[in-house]
Amino acid sequence: MRKSLLVLALGVLGIGCFHGLVGCKKAEPPKESQESIGPSGPAKGIPTMNIKKDGFGKLPDGTPVDIFTLTNRNGLKARIMTYGATLVSLEVPDRSGALADCVLGYESLDGYLKASPYFGATVGRVGNRIAKGKFTLDGKTYTLATNDKQNHLHGGLKGFDKVIWSAESFSEADAVGVKFGYLSKDGEEGYPGNLAVTVVYLLSNDNELRINYEATTDKATPVNLTNHSYFNFTAGARDILGHELTLTADRYTPVDKGLIPTGKLDPVKGTAMDFTAPFLIGARIAKVDGGYDHNYVLNSGGGAVALAARIYEPESGRVMEILTDQPGIQFYTGNFLDGTITGTGGRVYKQHWGFCLETQHFPDSPNHANFPGSILRPGQVYRTTTIHKFSTK
Ligand code: GLA
Repeated sequence: MRKSLLVLALGVLGIGCFHGLVGCKKAEPPKESQESIGPSGPAKGIPTMNIKKDGFGKLPDGTPVDIFTLTNRNGLKARIMTYGATLVSLEVPDRSGALADCVLGYESLDGYLKASPYFGATVGRVGNRIAKGKFTLDGKTYTLATNDKQNHLHGGLKGFDKVIWSAESFSEADAVGVKFGYLSKDGEEGYPGNLAVTVVYLLSNDNELRINYEATTDKATPVNLTNHSYFNFTAGARDILGHELTLTADRYTPVDKGLIPTGKLDPVKGTAMDFTAPFLIGARIAKVDGGYDHNYVLNSGGGAVALAARIYEPESGRVMEILTDQPGIQFYTGNFLDGTITGTGGRVYKQHWGFCLETQHFPDSPNHANFPGSILRPGQVYRTTTIHKFSTK
């Protein structure tokens, strides 16, 4: 029985890898000794690496939403739904091994449909802001939906966070995953070109949650995909100001009042923006107007996967490292959370109750020639990966 399930999962993987997906390794033949998926099953007390699919409610028009539960051998558990390809919960162990949900979200679909500040969502076609919802590409000016005062934010009125994605689960020798797919039509939210997108979540036995993005287009278009999880490694016991953050970024992109970059790349040295050495998030936040909501320019320059951020929560001992091949990362301290949302476990999400680290191209890139380019052209493949690595100390 177990064996036939595995074969089925590997078959799905075969299809998943057809397009040469990033990080989607060719399935290895089943290992009889694999405790999580082998025919003899796991040793007593050791969690089994597995995938489970359940219904997660319906949209008002009756469209069903599914949720996948990925569990690794250490019990780490990620739940991801087809609405917005959204990470709904993420159970991470503390230093004593106790698991707790460390992302903000809702227990049911309803909350996400009513009011979600992008909790756990896949955002696109272009994450972050485009000034006045306008950009010029190859001599043509495009006008996008505006949903953040006069600016375009996170893909517009109905971004990738608010659509239903197709989904297929799969297993690898040491990881379980779900591949989500979405076709964004030419003209959607004002963007040019049909954009075929896949997002793969992969949970490995070495406690990595990897997200691989891939996209192709039939017209030149800006693309900037990211994940908008809000983390809190106290598991909601208190705000995130006592978390210690390190960012591998000597510079950031200063912004105007509407959070649009001025175009400059300023050094962080000697300012409250400096996280090149570990600092408590709350230590200098009062000096930052409105709290942190800034794009950091990663020293790696993007291109190859490198360490971007490290977070340590001293009481629980939880550590998260973020590695990415993106050139930037948005550090956002949940400044707009105001206690009006009650989420998972009845928790009230007050200001600074979660933080986001969104790997990305710089905000408003299509309007800044000096920023790394974010235009995808027909014939090219957009590929990017972000890894969340969990440990304790
Ligand atoms: C991003 C932005 C913030 C805010 C949140 C959603 O992180 O940078 O300004 O809009 O999304 O509330």
